[in-house]
Amino acid sequence: MTIDKLDAGARAILTANDRGGYTVPNGQVYPFQWNWDSAFVALGFDTYNRDRAWTEVETLFNAQWDDGFLPHIVFWQDDPGYFPGPSVWATGKTPVTSGITQPPVAATVVRKLWDSAIAASADDAYRLRLESLFDKLIAWHRWFRDYRDPDGRGVVVAMHPWETGRDNSPEWDAPGEPIDISGVGEYTRRDTGHLDAKMRPTKLEYDRYLALVQYGVAQGWDHAKITAGNPFKVADIGMSMILLRANRDLLHLAEYLGRGSEADELRQMIDTAEAGIGWLWDDAKHSWCSRDLLTGRSSGFITSASFLSFYAGLADPAKDAAMLAHLHRIGSKVEYLMPSLDPEDPGFQMIRYWRGPVWAVVNFMIGTGLAEAGFDAEAARVRHDTLALMERNGYYEAYSPVDGSGSGGDDFSWTAAIWLAWSADR
Ligand code: DGY
Repeated sequence: MTIDKLDAGARAILTANDRGGYTVPNGQVYPFQWNWDSAFVALGFDTYNRDRAWTEVETLFNAQWDDGFLPHIVFWQDDPGYFPGPSVWATGKTPVTSGITQPPVAATVVRKLWDSAIAASADDAYRLRLESLFDKLIAWHRWFRDYRDPDGRGVVVAMHPWETGRDNSPEWDAPGEPIDISGVGEYTRRDTGHLDAKMRPTKLEYDRYLALVQYGVAQGWDHAKITAGNPFKVADIGMSMILLRANRDLLHLAEYLGRGSEADELRQMIDTAEAGIGWLWDDAKHSWCSRDLLTGRSSGFITSASFLSFYAGLADPAKDAAMLAHLHRIGSKVEYLMPSLDPEDPGFQMIRYWRGPVWAVVNFMIGTGLAEAGFDAEAARVRHDTLALMERNGYYEAYSPVDGSGSGGDDFSWTAAIWLAWSADR
């Protein structure tokens, strides 16, 4: 297929999934606004409709809570095709939202939107919009500091697997065991009505997801209470790296806008993360890994999120060399980088959601980080593999790293957006 046709196809997906000011990830499986999906979607819009790109992020932040929290789903309108819907979350907010958050990629996206506005001499027209988003972004990042890092280690502690965006990664298996699922009751999943159950999380995982939602409801979605008593607390390597990167991008914007005190605050958050994130290095695995806050144990799993250390700008030569060795080893085992789980792990499953498949948005962050760190050949391989998957198979939610077949929903917004954003600099 020609590049023009691929571009047109990607734009057609964003148009079809546009619900007016926000974009659904996929009309059947995910019929609402999702947090990090929308941020990546904005990068796609920015290649041909700058105003619509900014609106996507602004609409998301219109659902921000007073304490700075930014929900992972905004239910702008109900849809019976999804479970758990607004009545299960019962957050009592307007608009109705979920009570958990998602990886904070938005500040990095807003910096990219701003850089692109400057390059097109459109910065005057967008400056007020930037100022307004800056205030909301820093409020969200303070919320992470205040509610998702109880020991002040400079990491992000996920209180629900869905917060990590990597729902069924094996990193959550052992930390999930103590979750009491005895009161969950009967429910009907909708995801397995749209998709092959072999691609989706298991019933045990769903029971745990719902038990944690019920726990949040019982706490009245009071984040201080949840931070104190939640039965699941995992320092997620993905969110920790993503927030460190996002704080660097927000600092850049603070300096640009002349926000001195906020810039100092962001420098403090970056210093804390740089000093503390080494806690997530697993010496035995020679890799970055998530760690259970309640037991102190490393997951020991090498996942695609482990490779976000480049994106976070850690620049630690010994650790970088170890991660590059993993990348080369994994790259020799699969056709397409980066599988969401090390293919040599016995639990690797090539089409089951976050236990094997390749996700374009994670690759975009890994490839960006590798390029910035000067690892050009590895960056080129990750980018090439990602674009090849889309050229050959269309815009799926995820793909098998072994044969490239699509996994999860098709006509997927963030995959189409990554095509537009990443193929644009060809
Ligand atoms: C789902 O419903 O599978 C989502 O990933 C939750 O955010």
